[in-house]
Amino acid sequence: FKTRRAPELANSVIRKKLQGYVGFANLPNQVHRKSVKKGFHFTTMVVGESGLGKSTLVNTLFNTTLYPAKNDTVELSPEVPKTVEIQAITADIEENGVKLRLTVVDTPGFGDFVNNEERKHRGLNQIENPDMPCLDPVGNPYSITSRPASMPILNRRTVSTVTRWSITASTHASTLSSRRVTRKSMPLSILWFEVTILASYAHLKPLDIEFMRRLHTRVNLIPVIAKSDTLTEEEIRVFKERILADIAHHNIHIYQAPQYEYDDSETISENREIMAKIPFAIVGSDKEVEAEGGRRVRGRKYPWGVIEVDNEEHCDFHCLIDFPYHSPLSTHMEELKEYTNDVLYENYRTEKLMAMGIQQDPSVFKEVNPLQKMEEERQLHETKLAKMESEMKMVFQAKVQEKEAKLKQSEEELYARHKEMKEALEKQRLELEEKKRRIESGRPITPEKKQKKGFSFNK
Ligand code: GTP
Repeated sequence: FKTRRAPELANSVIRKKLQGYVGFANLPNQVHRKSVKKGFHFTTMVVGESGLGKSTLVNTLFNTTLYPAKNDTVELSPEVPKTVEIQAITADIEENGVKLRLTVVDTPGFGDFVNNEERKHRGLNQIENPDMPCLDPVGNPYSITSRPASMPILNRRTVSTVTRWSITASTHASTLSSRRVTRKSMPLSILWFEVTILASYAHLKPLDIEFMRRLHTRVNLIPVIAKSDTLTEEEIRVFKERILADIAHHNIHIYQAPQYEYDDSETISENREIMAKIPFAIVGSDKEVEAEGGRRVRGRKYPWGVIEVDNEEHCDFHCLIDFPYHSPLSTHMEELKEYTNDVLYENYRTEKLMAMGIQQDPSVFKEVNPLQKMEEERQLHETKLAKMESEMKMVFQAKVQEKEAKLKQSEEELYARHKEMKEALEKQRLELEEKKRRIESGRPITPEKKQKKGFSFNK
């Protein structure tokens, strides 16, 4: 095998035909089996104004009800709890035997609360902080999965853990009125994944620009226009142009479909087709309705007809998830993850380290000598073992000393008790001797004693 350490050997590589089966052709299957067994992780983040349809979009994207269903009637009810802090939901889902641990981070309501500035900065800080559990870039932070059109819908869903660091408050009337006005005038929602999806009607607000400006170096951004069913085709066209102009004006980097040398012309043109639709005009609905010809479809039913979520003539939702081959979420998921880990996170880390005054060591970029690395690892391992051994010895010695001290103490106690008993007995013996002596000296002589001493008795 050619390694990076031995380019000089490259010329001496010879091509050989195998005589028989070796087995390495099975490596891709091994990787596949391992991946399926291990399962995947995927983190999604949703940010934006309240009521823009973020929760519905997440439910629609993953074809599951991660968030409880709301409809327009209950949405406006004062009893509907409104999430006013960042919250994360983790769910284990499975599709065709492939397990996925999905974490969705929702930060609803930006843009329509009283203390917006404070919320914005708190939100940004939390989003920018990779130590946030759900966004830990080291632990495979962001990933995207999808349900290609050919696959059945998710057949099993188990909400395993629901992590909330949120407070929920009842929506009050004042918020509701401002919410309605805001929604009509300039609704915007932003979803941060390994991609960030950003939704807008007209143009981006300063708040959204600020979010994107600070985060486009951290995450992949995909702009989307929310609730596009409430816009005419002409409005959608104009808004798309305006949003792209805003993004370009602020030098914000948005998601680009990856291009490979080996891509065929069909793939390239499909990618172009998708990219030309950004910002995607989407419609969200996690409910099925009856469409033309009695078909059951995911969509929204209006008196004048049905808007179908998965119908590419009705909206661009398929660009996010169902486009057969080249949607960001169905085939480019791995690239999104790699880009996030290798580029976005590494940039972030370098920035942070440099801000702390730590300079990048150029030697880090030197090629790694595998033998030297192995030797270093072996030495490290041996040092660890030696340390463990000496620690165990010390613990053993401490235990032995402790035991010895205990034995000595109980021996001394026994000896002291023995001595005490001996002294008590001796004292008792002497007392008895003395008593005997006293008795013997004061008592009259009995006939037996006299006889013993030589007296005779006359009867
Ligand atoms: P918060 O959780 O309060 O931030 O709201 P949200 O942004 O998560 O919005 P949610 O998904 O709860 O949707 C709000 C309302 O908009 C609900 O009544 C949805 O049925 C409706 N809705 C969602 N998506 C669409 C859409 O694409 N078009 C239309 N017309 N309505 C939508």
